[in-house]
Amino acid sequence: MVFTKKKSPDEIYLEEKLFWDKESKKSLLWVPQIKRKAFFHKLKKKSIWWHKYINPLQHKLILDVGCGTEDSYIPYLILSKNKLVGIDLSENTIKINKLILDKLGIKAAIINFNNPFKIIQLFKKKKDLKAIFVVGNVEHPLFAKKQFDIVHAKWILHHTQSIPAALKNINMSLKSGGLFICTESNILYPLRWITQVKFLRSINIFRYFAIKYGPLDPNEMARTPGDYIRMIKDAGFKVNVVDFKHEFEFVGYVVRLFIKNKNVIHFAKKIDNFLLLLEFPKYFAMDVKILAEKVKDV
Ligand SMILES: C[S@@+](CC[C@H](N)C(=O)[O-])C[C@H]1O[C@@H](n2cnc3c(N)ncnc32)[C@H](O)[C@@H]1O
Repeated sequence: MVFTKKKSPDEIYLEEKLFWDKESKKSLLWVPQIKRKAFFHKLKKKSIWWHKYINPLQHKLILDVGCGTEDSYIPYLILSKNKLVGIDLSENTIKINKLILDKLGIKAAIINFNNPFKIIQLFKKKKDLKAIFVVGNVEHPLFAKKQFDIVHAKWILHHTQSIPAALKNINMSLKSGGLFICTESNILYPLRWITQVKFLRSINIFRYFAIKYGPLDPNEMARTPGDYIRMIKDAGFKVNVVDFKHEFEFVGYVVRLFIKNKNVIHFAKKIDNFLLLLEFPKYFAMDVKILAEKVKDV
């Protein structure tokens, strides 16, 4: 059995930065090939889970924490007439986001975190500026308080060392009544549970391969939907929506790993969709989506 030394918070932070700097480079495979017109066309068809609950989402100042590079919701939100601030601990991620928007002809700027408090003034001064990116840690105070209408966070909380610290900063960034749109990894999803369960980690062969060959961040730790809901409520929010739809992909996910036949994949997805109609399998869905409203300052 291999015993690993307990890492300090600084060591974990550095490891995370390096991990995400490396991960974000994968986007460099497709970013240079972006064709503006085709990209915009695809964005128009993008399926957005919160549309059902808050539509239209326009003319808002949005903070995206842990913005990453792989999903296209940043240009999507900007094209929907919002202004956006993206924050991520990986410097590469921030630079690639600016590159993506440059390619799309959307004006964006990277600013220094030592001077992050003038976000609103910057947008006011430069009317054509649509996005600002900052390298920073969501676990530390982010910006001047109560500046944002919306905070969006997708797949980031479970990568942090302290979810309550991240949620506290998210609360502080939001105006009163502001919305928090969150998508998080569910630990009960079987493939996730197998790789992240703490029990006998050092001899967990699935975990070993997921870290070595897959995108598993060695420091990530997903929680149950109930845990996220409780922590979000504790951080001064009222939870308005909890949604598991579209993401339950247990049969589909496994089938896709081994079979390329479209009809078989389609059938597997149908089984997933059927399972989702039942109450019990929801708790094993891949992700949980939560829409919450700030009701109190913390
Ligand atoms: C799984 S990716 C998700 C990216 C993006 N939100 C998406 O949906 O595609 C997690 C992102 O969170 C960032 N991240 C992790 N911990 C962070 C922290 N403490 N503060 C800010 N960003 C963080 C990583 O650098 C990475 O870009």
